[in-house]
Amino acid sequence: MSGTLRLGVNIDHVATVRNARGSAYPDPVRAAILAEESGADGITAHLREDRRHITDDDIARLVATLKRPLNFEMAATAEMQAIALRHRPHAACIVPEKREERTTEGGLDVAADIARLTEFIAPLRAAGCRVSMFIGHDPRQIEASARIGAAVVELHTGHYCDLHAEGRFAERDAELAALAEGARLARSLGLEVHAGHGLTYDTVGPVAAFPEVRELNIGHFLIGEAIFVGLKKAIAEMRRQMDAAQA
Ligand code: PXP
Repeated sequence: MSGTLRLGVNIDHVATVRNARGSAYPDPVRAAILAEESGADGITAHLREDRRHITDDDIARLVATLKRPLNFEMAATAEMQAIALRHRPHAACIVPEKREERTTEGGLDVAADIARLTEFIAPLRAAGCRVSMFIGHDPRQIEASARIGAAVVELHTGHYCDLHAEGRFAERDAELAALAEGARLARSLGLEVHAGHGLTYDTVGPVAAFPEVRELNIGHFLIGEAIFVGLKKAIAEMRRQMDAAQA
């Protein structure tokens, strides 16, 4: 467990690997338990409309098993709202899944959909879920998120990370400055500030240093990195079992 900056570990891509073979493993719930044991402050999972990674059964098992809060990422659809209301996760993070829901920064276009989203999140708030909007740093989106009654905004760090990976450092720094400004504005409006998407060891530091940020949600890089820190042990155990069987 950390101090004031929480780490939410997104386990979606454990399910991606599982689903590639239609097998029962690797199990994202087992990964979530390991993440909790390893210092994650919460677990994030995105039940996509097409169920390409996390499934309904995964969500049910996570809710039944987790000791730490579940951040349930969901599109703003009636189907996902009903699932969230059934499970009542600690947090519901509303994310875009369709191109037309996106702003230029890649987050949800809250400003274009104020009336519908106010109505959409009301039952989630009434059920006790902390509602979070996954948005870009555009001040209009931040102000709109405050207006609809969200408790949290999660600022989309994907563009910042892409610019870093492409070596476009001046643009990266401008994007980082805009994210920092967005975090300040959100906090001044009473919103809790989270951030995430695409973060790696190379890009996490400057975002983690924003004084307003209370939580980072990180998945793809961590699941990928686990291959390199874990493959050696997995192979050694298979070798051991093969040798034991021959003995
Ligand atoms: N935050 C949100 C709202 C997301 O949708 C995702 C990706 O599912 C993440 C954080 C984590 O992004 P990544 O897997 O690139 O670390």
